[in-house]
Amino acid sequence: MKIIRSVAQMQKMMMRRAGKSLGFVPTMGALHAGHLSLIRRARTENDLVAVSIFVNPAQFGPREDYQRYPRPFAQDARLCRAAGVDYFFAPAAADMYPDGYATYTEVTHLSNVLCGASRPGHFRGVATVVAKLLNITAPDRAYLGIKDYQQVHIISRMVRDLNMPVKIVACPTVREPSGLALSSRNQFLSAEQKAGSAVIARALHHCRDLILSKKQRKSREIIQCMKRMITSIPGAKIDYVAVVDCQTLDPITVVGSVAAIVCAVRVGTTRLIDNIVVRSAVSR
Ligand code: PAF
Repeated sequence: MKIIRSVAQMQKMMMRRAGKSLGFVPTMGALHAGHLSLIRRARTENDLVAVSIFVNPAQFGPREDYQRYPRPFAQDARLCRAAGVDYFFAPAAADMYPDGYATYTEVTHLSNVLCGASRPGHFRGVATVVAKLLNITAPDRAYLGIKDYQQVHIISRMVRDLNMPVKIVACPTVREPSGLALSSRNQFLSAEQKAGSAVIARALHHCRDLILSKKQRKSREIIQCMKRMITSIPGAKIDYVAVVDCQTLDPITVVGSVAAIVCAVRVGTTRLIDNIVVRSAVSR
């Protein structure tokens, strides 16, 4: 595995691929089983695999956890090597955003709702860094976890709107046995908070079952049910719970054949997100 710290060197290396396909997994490091599942998928579908490890300052607000975000570099490198990664790209912030940096990518509308409403500028930072990483690595496929539901939609839209020649592959959420979605931020949860946070996934599954069993299709009731369950988590503060259209992310009032239930919850100082897509044969 080649460890590459410079943007110029990565770009040069990516241009000399001799026709080999490349799967790319963008990450902010602190790799867990969710990331490893993306790497495994990339490994099976491509000749070469690149992983980026970059805690992107542009996607953190001034009062967010940029400084304390975990950076276990040596452990990440070890995991990637064991997973058969070919290129481990870990650029410095000053190389990605040199003095005078002035260009940003913004996917309008999709970026200002849900997580974007409480994290202004977050998705502009995400879209910008992913556009840069895709330009640097020029992959055939890029792998993202569907846990970050809005992020996957924004990146897919950016790629489509800007005619970027890459396929975005959305991969399933990996969960703890309790159901809690894996996240690099879970390590900030105490054991008690972690056990309590499993209620988020239980609430999503319960509400999906209500819809599939035709007991409930009204979004207002589904949101109330989610909120009732989630507020039982000690120290939980709900940022949002919404039932949305799977393409536009616009709120819907009655669930038809397909919808997504999405939520963000702060447990102590840790912000957790999760979602479930509900597909049923029910028509409006
Ligand atoms: O999901 C993440 O880890 C980040 O938002 C991403 C896509 C690597 C961009 O920094």
